[in-house]
Amino acid sequence: MGAGIFSSVGTAIAGSADRPGAGPALVVSLLILTLGSALAALCYAEFAAMIPAAGSAYTYAYATLGELVAWIIGWDLILEYAIGNVAVAISWAGYFDTLLRGFGIEIPAWLVTDYRTAHQAAAQVAAAADRSALSFAVRQGAAAVATAPALFGLPLIFNLPAVGIVSIITLVLVRGIKESAWVNNISVVIKVAVVLVFLAVGVTYVKPENWTPFAPNGFRGITVGAAIIFFAYIGFDAVSTAAEETRNPQKDMPFGIIASLIICTVLYIAIALVLTGIMPWDQLGVPDPLAVALTFIHADWFAGLVAFGAVMSMTSVLLVFQLGQPRIFFSMARDGLLPTWAAKVHPRFRTPHVTTIITGVLVAVPALFFNINEMVELTNIGTLFAFLLVALGILVLRVREPDRARPFRTPLVPLVPLAAIGICGFLMFQLPLKTWILFIVWLAIGLVIYFGYSHRHSRLRLAAASPAR
Ligand code: ALA
Repeated sequence: MGAGIFSSVGTAIAGSADRPGAGPALVVSLLILTLGSALAALCYAEFAAMIPAAGSAYTYAYATLGELVAWIIGWDLILEYAIGNVAVAISWAGYFDTLLRGFGIEIPAWLVTDYRTAHQAAAQVAAAADRSALSFAVRQGAAAVATAPALFGLPLIFNLPAVGIVSIITLVLVRGIKESAWVNNISVVIKVAVVLVFLAVGVTYVKPENWTPFAPNGFRGITVGAAIIFFAYIGFDAVSTAAEETRNPQKDMPFGIIASLIICTVLYIAIALVLTGIMPWDQLGVPDPLAVALTFIHADWFAGLVAFGAVMSMTSVLLVFQLGQPRIFFSMARDGLLPTWAAKVHPRFRTPHVTTIITGVLVAVPALFFNINEMVELTNIGTLFAFLLVALGILVLRVREPDRARPFRTPLVPLVPLAAIGICGFLMFQLPLKTWILFIVWLAIGLVIYFGYSHRHSRLRLAAASPAR
């Protein structure tokens, strides 16, 4: 629970220039996503209990569908974990900036945004008849362009807090999983408390007339909104990356996956109803919709609290994915698909420190320069594809190895995996062409690396080539 519900929810409701939003019918988008994710979660749960090893979907594919499919999934998961965290870090920085402003501290605008967002904002300001009607975020973006210093004629605009938080999280994770669990637990308690306060305050200001029209952009708006707010659902599967460090994985993995999905769903639907009940849906297209809604009802103090909750919330999301990605890389390196030096464990901290630091760099650098919406959509397409492949994996394995021990069984096979594949595939097609192009290019780069390096160094291949071993 992080950037999705604290930030992307605004775009999912209000839409953007070229894509319609769901309006109050975001509740329907959330119900579709809950169904799709629950079906995928049941598939994940079967694998997680059956193969409780680090690496999530990559490991399941490796153990059951072969090395090439595993590589494709592992490479695809980078979109879910690392690129997902780029988006979360950018959103974290936005809320952190708001929080500091509450204390009278101002970070220069050119240090908390990216070049593209800033220039889009500047164009919006230039074209606006009434500048006071523009959101704070847009005015800030334009201020970044106006005040940015230049280096060799190029304006310096980048996101410093985003890099700062990723660096701190990386250091915590190198030190150990216990320390990170401690930070995570505090963050989770605070975020849930803040969301409950938001709901308790907001619900008294709900005006049911704001829910009409309920679906201003029809079914198309609902599905486009779903494809965006899917970001909020990403993460229940991340539980499975820490399977090797779990005490009773066969019981705790399915429970953790399904329980986190249920809790988030209930909170998300409540937030969507309150948010669209408080103010007109078409005014929510801002990066910080929860805070804007509270300012709308003059609960400014609560808006500051929400900013704090959002910062804590996204800190815990960053932790979960920065924890998960190195364990996927670690598994890939252990199998010889990435250089084996990456699979080293720190002698004192007992963490996969090499892959943790590589992940930190992989997230921090794009977070300096990229635009959040593009990162969210790329993450979503990658994750939907991973869910789809996991569901497919359940079907294949039930046929190939029907008698294998399954501590948790996905119910109603083949119906559940087939429906998961259908919903995930459908949602993938709601994402823009640009996202598809990036996704295909990403997978193509992965295949070049596989056939150029990984296949030749793979442990499976080396073992097959030297029968004496
Ligand atoms: N579900 C996570 C979030 O919304 C990725 O930030």
